[in-house]
Amino acid sequence: MSELNRRKFLTYVGTGVGALTVASTGLGAMVPKAEARGVEAASHLFGFQKKVSGLNFKPIDPTDKDDLVLPRGYKYDVVAAYGDVINKKGDTFGFNNDFTLYFPIDGDKRGLLWVNHEYSSDLFVHGARPANGKYSAAQIQKMLYSQGGSIIEVYRDKEGTWKLDTDSKFARRITGLTPFQLTGPAKGSKAVGGATNVQGTFANCSGGKTLWGTVLSAEENFESTSKDAGLNDTHYGWIVEIDPFDPNFKPRKHTALGRFNHENAAVGLTNDNRVVVYMGDDKKDACVYKFISKNKYVKSRGKANSDLLEEGTLYAANMGSGKWVPLTIENVQKAVKGNADLLKKFQTQADVAVHCHEAALLVGGTPTDRPEDVEISPFDKTVFIAHTNNDKHGNFHGHITRFIEDGDDLGALTFDFEIFAAGGKQSGFSAPDNLTFDSLGNLWTVTDMSSSKLNTGIYTHFANNGMFVIPTIGKNTGEAFQFASAPVEAELTGPSFTPNETTLFLSIQHPGEETENLNNLTSKWPHRKGDTMPRPGVVAITGFKY
Ligand code: FEO
Ligand code: CA
Ligand code: CA
Ligand code: CA
Repeated sequence: MSELNRRKFLTYVGTGVGALTVASTGLGAMVPKAEARGVEAASHLFGFQKKVSGLNFKPIDPTDKDDLVLPRGYKYDVVAAYGDVINKKGDTFGFNNDFTLYFPIDGDKRGLLWVNHEYSSDLFVHGARPANGKYSAAQIQKMLYSQGGSIIEVYRDKEGTWKLDTDSKFARRITGLTPFQLTGPAKGSKAVGGATNVQGTFANCSGGKTLWGTVLSAEENFESTSKDAGLNDTHYGWIVEIDPFDPNFKPRKHTALGRFNHENAAVGLTNDNRVVVYMGDDKKDACVYKFISKNKYVKSRGKANSDLLEEGTLYAANMGSGKWVPLTIENVQKAVKGNADLLKKFQTQADVAVHCHEAALLVGGTPTDRPEDVEISPFDKTVFIAHTNNDKHGNFHGHITRFIEDGDDLGALTFDFEIFAAGGKQSGFSAPDNLTFDSLGNLWTVTDMSSSKLNTGIYTHFANNGMFVIPTIGKNTGEAFQFASAPVEAELTGPSFTPNETTLFLSIQHPGEETENLNNLTSKWPHRKGDTMPRPGVVAITGFKY
């Protein structure tokens, strides 16, 4: 253990005990009053139940090993990897898995796992672009099938190993070929070529869970696939909604939430019970958004609450003034007064939805350093945003920003913020991307240093990409402790816990991404018998202590 990690380990054990006190007594004496109030309010809001998570781990050192390296006492099972058959019909697991979300069928023992599939690969999926520059129809079919999402059924057997149940009656694929309906202001508008139904979803990065038990999946870097497949690009770059249990719930794209390079969708409630969705736009110099529904959430309406995402107001954060600026057509037209070209471009709310990034900058949304995942703290309702990095601004290691909404109300239109943690040698992590909370108030983050830069230059110190645990309560607030290290050239994505936090699902995305030919693989993860290439896969991590 490095000296830095030894010091961290010792202090972390202290935090663990302190946090445990908080968790088991509810409103522990160690928690400042304001935070205690937050715990109570958030508990109501999210049905939050205090659980004892096992965070007594000894942080690992950075490593360049071609494996998922975990602290002693923890293990992982590969539950599904690219190409695995997932159901009786013979559907197969997609490529480059990202966001995961577990839906219990039998508590922490059996459930459905939603998994995003973000992008395809010439080398590993459909072969290189032919000399004429155009993929063949068969290649495009594969490209579209390998993206979208998988619904798989997973269970923990008697030996404690997580496995895929290929006899599942729920397991199915959502792909770039699945029919979707549009909802909201852009549905049927000129801005989307009059479409009310569109083909497929792809570039599915992170996502979120609605309060009514469906999945939101974020279409991120859709441009290359829509172009290669000859599809209308205004049909992509949306937040899509799917019900993993119910194939009759028609998959939908909610245009009221705007079209951009969507990273995620973090769902909460305002103090007056309207639905809020926080979203990142993963580009250099892009904005942080939130959507607030017009109508209120009514629990007894169940999945009918989905219509709340069809009507409401979308806001971009102006961090200089601490204001959420409404992205209404009136505001945009006011901002571009006298500019004939822009007035022509922005005529309706549908135009604002389709050209959201541009509209946000026009009304004063603050350009930031690649806003990726956003999570709402279940403890105090502060909002955490991973700003991955931005080499244009000399921000090579990124940071995690924390928004504090006025009055602790997610419906507030004013906020303050702080830099919660900064990437760099001093903290031990670089390029924070996905975020998730555990019930002790620890923020788990995975890193996304680009494959081509790993273990070189200023990134040497960090070795492979990793996973870090950062307390948001107690004296180690903001300090990062490394929990996992990714296989060669992989990125860890989509961490999500089972309800009792006995298992953590995690995606291993693009192992061996820099491989140039199949005879010279840079990674062979997951090192399964018979595999001749690296395969992105989802693992279940167990060993959490109570
Ligand atoms: Fe798909 Fe922004 O990571
Ligand atoms: Ca991401
Ligand atoms: Ca997340
Ligand atoms: Ca990323």
